[in-house]
Amino acid sequence: MKTLRDLGDLNGKRVLVRVDFNVPLQNGRVTDDMRIGAALPTIQELRGRGARIVLVSHLGRPKDREASLSLTPVARRLSELIGAPVRLAPGVVGDDVRAAVDELGPGGVLLLENVRYEPGETKNDAELARALADLADVYVDDAFGAAHRAHASTEGVARLVSEHAAGFLLEREVGTLTQVLEDPARPLVSVLGGAKVSDKIGVIDRFLQTADTILIGGAMCFPFLAARGHAVGDSLCAEEDVELAARTLESVAQARAELLLPVDLVLGDRFAEDANVREIDGVDVPDGWMGLDIGQQTRDTYADVIAQAGTVFWNGPMGAFELPPFASGTSAVAHAVALASGTTVVGGGDSAAALRQFGLDGEVTHLSTGGGATLELIEGKQLPGVEALR
Ligand code: 3PG
Repeated sequence: MKTLRDLGDLNGKRVLVRVDFNVPLQNGRVTDDMRIGAALPTIQELRGRGARIVLVSHLGRPKDREASLSLTPVARRLSELIGAPVRLAPGVVGDDVRAAVDELGPGGVLLLENVRYEPGETKNDAELARALADLADVYVDDAFGAAHRAHASTEGVARLVSEHAAGFLLEREVGTLTQVLEDPARPLVSVLGGAKVSDKIGVIDRFLQTADTILIGGAMCFPFLAARGHAVGDSLCAEEDVELAARTLESVAQARAELLLPVDLVLGDRFAEDANVREIDGVDVPDGWMGLDIGQQTRDTYADVIAQAGTVFWNGPMGAFELPPFASGTSAVAHAVALASGTTVVGGGDSAAALRQFGLDGEVTHLSTGGGATLELIEGKQLPGVEALR
């Protein structure tokens, strides 16, 4: 994969940069700018090299030109972060956009409107890819979060602009996650949480072959506990997930990794901040109660395993951490990951949000900006946005 370092003189050249500025908004403001900040090294490098920068991103999943999904607030936030004007183009492609690109000077930055305003984007439409390619002398892809999508602004355009490269973020994401899979410092410990086994089954299967220990938390533990014959009470536990978990447990004996499940739990009688709370030693959940966090003994064991790891990959919270009575398990894992002396890689929006909630987001080796893209790369799937750059 070519990188920014392989590109020659960029002075005065139009560089189309695919970024993933799919960020949360509230009342017309960006509420989490991690993805914008993560693209700054590439943008600043290109500005320093005198490129005329045309940024392209999606935001949400608009059905048509929904005004609430305009990139206006993103242009404003980016401008604050780089300390320079960022103009928002009047659309994605077309004569007015081309005129705005023509007006860019060296180091100037233009952000195209939400690329999903164009119906051809998600269809990887050849005409849209061509129109985007016509805005560029060079194409740079820094949108790791969208690299699992074969869309016109990721896959299609990369194949049409012969001078193309990965940006610094895409390069770091792919490099770090590939190393976790292929050449990790051992022991490799994978901490997996979240709501559903079906969302993570590909990742669990992969880590069963490559990791040394898998620590399971979050509601995802209940299908495993149910498959082992435990009562799950009112805990989140889909029948299809129990089947997947049972199959996984059958394969554990032949796997490289040891898979650990919680041995104690924190229960609530409702999913609410003011729920009645009860801790149980053991994992049989009585009717009328739901498991909403891992218990103290589990936290201690998981923290010990994480402390001894050469590499930790963490994806998914250990419980309902957004509700204070059920945040201790996720907090314990977040602190253990932050304190670990090994390489620590955290993926997925919820784990990143948890790290931020506990003020630990600066304390890990790599905080991935990808959600689905991170999981697909770990599963061993090829990412179309990355393949198109080869
Ligand atoms: C994400 O937020 O995971 C990426 O921006 C991809 O968004 P999508 O799932 O709408 O394609």
